[in-house]
Amino acid sequence: MRILSGIQPSGTLHLGNYFGMMRPSIELQEQGEAYYFIADYHSMTTLFDPAERRRNTLAVALDFLACGLDPARTVFFRQSDVPEVTELTWLIGTLAPMGLLERCHSYKDKVAKGIAFNFGLFAYPVLMAADILLYDSNLVPVGRDQKQHVEVTRDIAIKFNETYGPTFVVPEPKIKESVAVVPGTDGQKMSKSYGNTIDIFGDEKTLRKRVMGIVMDSRTPAEPKPDAEKNSAIQLLKLVAPPDVAQGCEDRLRAGGYGYGDLKKALFEAYWIHFAEARAKRADLAANPDYVESVLASGAERARGKAREVLDRAKRASGLRPA
Ligand code: ADP
Ligand code: TRP
Repeated sequence: MRILSGIQPSGTLHLGNYFGMMRPSIELQEQGEAYYFIADYHSMTTLFDPAERRRNTLAVALDFLACGLDPARTVFFRQSDVPEVTELTWLIGTLAPMGLLERCHSYKDKVAKGIAFNFGLFAYPVLMAADILLYDSNLVPVGRDQKQHVEVTRDIAIKFNETYGPTFVVPEPKIKESVAVVPGTDGQKMSKSYGNTIDIFGDEKTLRKRVMGIVMDSRTPAEPKPDAEKNSAIQLLKLVAPPDVAQGCEDRLRAGGYGYGDLKKALFEAYWIHFAEARAKRADLAANPDYVESVLASGAERARGKAREVLDRAKRASGLRPA
């Protein structure tokens, strides 16, 4: 079984990315042949600063390796190191109905926000479909917001197979429901575009401030909170703290007499400890950029072998090359 996922280097990674996508992906590397990549072509749809793209790409590589991606087992690469993906984007794009793409939330959200729109943003799901189909992927672990893109991929794969004969594996999304939506500091979905993130790694003082800044309601500490499970600090605590600690805090909040400040302090401590080992590993890796580069280079070479095989199959099926 081949498992594939990607993440854009469009900012620093946060707890939503970690619990929604990175950790489930890293856990799955045991269960098949995993292909994980840094979607730098995708980042071009919204990020226009070359130095920032390079910085973010290295940072994402460090984050994944620090969090347990095993480069001996998993094929880890930069999307643009396998340019075959752009060729496949064209081959399948001609079979992607406009209506299907116009229904995509990612596109509709950006239009609704009035973000200056470009061809790349509209074609984004087709490039993502090419990412998935190019490696005969069976399973795609992502957060819930990416589910629709995997469904688009399935539709395109089925249509290509019907039009040109069996060519692509039809993939399945894999969404870990317990962490499908990690809340941000304002209670909405954590997302870099909402400015409500808590990063996985960074400076202690800044991150403590982020955690202490989680928005709470105006009830007094003394008041019992029968809806404690809905509190975003409690939801985050359940992700980073041992279960008995998280349960203890939830019970105290429910009973009353436990202030939000104390809850947030407990959350910060648990969060800081949760990533202590990964933080140390990341510092070691950051001191060794040549090693990180070599991991990505050997990942690209392995990925490219598979990519050429599948692209060739698609070109033969569609008559671009003799069958
Ligand atoms: P952002 O919303 O910050 O721009 P991305 O869209 O780049 O994040 O998401 C990268 C991956 O992380 C995707 O698989 C996405 O589903 C997952 N993810 C992002 N935010 C969350 C969240 N708050 N909860 C769960 N998963 C998330
Ligand atoms: N669109 C995804 C995101 O923003 C990143 C991505 C690109 C991806 N290609 C992919 C995820 C292929 C899974 C499979 O999070």
